[in-house]
Amino acid sequence: MGFADFRTALVTGASSGIGAATVRRLCAEGLEVYAVARDEGRLAALSAETGCRACAVDVNDLGALTQLAGSAEFDVLVNNAGQSRRSNILDTAPDDVDTLVDVNLRAVLHLTRVIVPGMAKRDRGHVVNISSIAGHYAFGENATTFNSSVAYHATKAGIHSLSRQLRVDLFGTRVRVTEVSPGRVATGIFQNPDVGGGGNDRFVGAFETLQPEDIADAIAFAVGSPMRMNVAMLEVIPIFQVVGDLRFARRTEAAQQTEIKKRS
Ligand SMILES: NC(=O)c1ccc[n+]([C@@H]2O[C@H](COP(=O)([O-])OP(=O)(O)OC[C@H]3O[C@@H](n4cnc5c(N)ncnc54)[C@H](OP(=O)(O)O)[C@@H]3O)[C@@H](O)[C@H]2O)c1
Repeated sequence: MGFADFRTALVTGASSGIGAATVRRLCAEGLEVYAVARDEGRLAALSAETGCRACAVDVNDLGALTQLAGSAEFDVLVNNAGQSRRSNILDTAPDDVDTLVDVNLRAVLHLTRVIVPGMAKRDRGHVVNISSIAGHYAFGENATTFNSSVAYHATKAGIHSLSRQLRVDLFGTRVRVTEVSPGRVATGIFQNPDVGGGGNDRFVGAFETLQPEDIADAIAFAVGSPMRMNVAMLEVIPIFQVVGDLRFARRTEAAQQTEIKKRS
């Protein structure tokens, strides 16, 4: 099994949600886990609970990431840190575009760049990238979702693309790349006021969502699978969530929409 071959892991976005659940799971599997996020207090609590190493680092800090990458021989890298925003491209704030690209995509590329060459050299490793169903599908706005930011969708599509290309770059090595693409999971990501009115009550409490441990289990399945096997991609969605929408406005509706957009 994969876990027997691995000793160390680095998990980003470890202070809450999917990342914290993944740290708990990988520590329980016997790995030494470096837990990365900005919130020192939450990391300290997680460290006291699991024995993980707390690394209070902003993933936008390239110097700190590079230093961290050089501090151990990482066998498992879980690129999980991420943020979300609501907004339609017609009213997207410039800072939101920058934050989402920086945290969700740029940091993942840099962390991959500084950690994966060591894995390739040792011919041992596993990269797990957390994308989202937002990276694979467009969402229509309705009562169960929000006008999900086009920048969020684009960064998560980037994670899908880099995961595929990384497998090509690593061809011939025993370094595996898994993309895990979750549907809605009950985490704090919906508490951010930028994500939409109603936060957790509206987007989590009212639904039978996934739990962070479900995604940690999916990650553990991929990492723990036999070395001959590369779980390339897992789309994990709640039982009552599907994506599928085809909209085609009648001529009269299209004219109304054009009028509304002109007036707003
Ligand atoms: N929840 C869902 O429904 C869902 C669905 C699909 C995909 N995802 C993805 O799953 C991943 C984890 O999100 P989650 O749902 O578990 O949300 P969460 O509980 O809000 O966790 C996000 C984590 O990212 C960390 N983070 C944010 N900005 C950071 C930065 N600049 N530097 C370092 N760490 C940073 C946060 O820690 P600090 O604030 O302490 O830095 C936190 O630990 C994200 O990539 C998200 O896009 C979530």
